[in-house]
Amino acid sequence: MGVFITFEGIEGAGKTTQAKLLCEYLLNEDKKAVLTREPGGTETGKKIREILLSKTTEIFPPKAELFLYEADRNFHVHNVIKPYLEKGYFVICDRYIDSTLAYQGYARGLDINLIKMLNDIAVEGVYPDLTFLIDIPVEISLKRLGEEKDRIESEDIQFHRRLREGFIKIAQENPERIVILDGTKDIDHIFQQILNHLKARGVL
Ligand code: TMP
Repeated sequence: MGVFITFEGIEGAGKTTQAKLLCEYLLNEDKKAVLTREPGGTETGKKIREILLSKTTEIFPPKAELFLYEADRNFHVHNVIKPYLEKGYFVICDRYIDSTLAYQGYARGLDINLIKMLNDIAVEGVYPDLTFLIDIPVEISLKRLGEEKDRIESEDIQFHRRLREGFIKIAQENPERIVILDGTKDIDHIFQQILNHLKARGVL
């Protein structure tokens, strides 16, 4: 089996940059590695992502949003994550189960136990070996967002505050899996910390 590493954080935290750096580093080291993301890590998932992020005049019920993220995840687990792990790859994933807990749970207000249950159903036993949570203050997050915001980015500042607190709570509840990194530090510094953690855990 390969190694499953996820990156999490609020908007603009820099997780996508770090996920890419890690995948490039692993490939340079002649390791088998693949970079993927949620939502949208599969062909069908790209269509689900489009539905989730585009603005609509219709009511977008929070439970429908939750089901779509979980459907995207189940497609992803079957078509990408599980097959690559079985082939011994490092699978680097930009967002996974913790995003649903933080966004649809802590920020949106859906029942945390319901989300845990649906996450469990969607992942079919495929949990991350290690998760990096890149943490930044909400004010910096909102500043880093451009003018063109998608449906979720357009939520108000209170939503983003609940989101950040939610992520920190999830990390505190899973200290053996989730490492919190300070996203206000420069890119190279954060990446070095990621490598140090992987080496300390014997993953590299
Ligand atoms: P991205 O900006 O990292 O590509 O993620 C797309 C958006 O989807 C982002 O606003 C976070 C949100 N999201 C959820 O609300 N729940 C989830 O389960 C996932 C994976 C992402």
